[in-house]
Amino acid sequence: MATLGVNIDHIANVRQARKTVEPDPVQFAFLAELGGADSITVHLREDRRHIQDRDVFLLKETIKTKLNLEMAATEEMLEIAKKILPDYVTLVPEKREEVTTEGGLDLQSNLQYLKKAVGNLKESNIEVSAFIDPLDKQINYSKEIGFDFIELHTGKYAELSGSDQYKELQRIIESTHLANDLGLVVNAGHGLNYNNVKKIAAINNMNELNIGHSIVARALAIGLEKSVREMKSLITSN
Ligand code: PXP
Repeated sequence: MATLGVNIDHIANVRQARKTVEPDPVQFAFLAELGGADSITVHLREDRRHIQDRDVFLLKETIKTKLNLEMAATEEMLEIAKKILPDYVTLVPEKREEVTTEGGLDLQSNLQYLKKAVGNLKESNIEVSAFIDPLDKQINYSKEIGFDFIELHTGKYAELSGSDQYKELQRIIESTHLANDLGLVVNAGHGLNYNNVKKIAAINNMNELNIGHSIVARALAIGLEKSVREMKSLITSN
């Protein structure tokens, strides 16, 4: 049965809108855990538009589940990760002008650099995941580079409907099987919500779903603890 990673970047987005101290994502991580989150995800961006370094250090000290640090594979971020020692790092592509992570990593064009970066993190006992599109070639490169996990990008699945969505779901299922056959643990995320999550959660051997926007949006109406509990119940009631 898949577990639930809750991405709390949007809590920090509200705080940064005023560059003040509230709401504090560290306090909301506590509520997410009370609601049943199995891990807490934060994306420390190069431009620090939402999560700040201080948040990640405090989360590492205070959360009782697992810390998933999403980041670009830059020298600066690798140094920070080695100081914080999160339970795992998810490497993502990052563009300054994007609103959110747009696509998966292109592993092929960064093969040698990523091999070094992943090796570097693993030496510090940090497990490493690659955020990739559900494509055979990206899965094969993930194995070659030495990633422990992959996170399959579900953004396209979330945007499509009808038979197109069904086809994308099949692609995600086949990608999960291929990755499992290669010994990779499979997570998934992006664009998942209360309406579309169940089919992804039902995939055999799906390890963890990383969900942020829909949970935080619903939290505005019913509070974060409850919005996490509702999502967790959808994922685990397959
Ligand atoms: N996984 C990754 C790698 C992401 O970059 C994001 C967005 O920050 C998510 C999952 C969560 O996506 P959403 O906010 O659409 O649930």
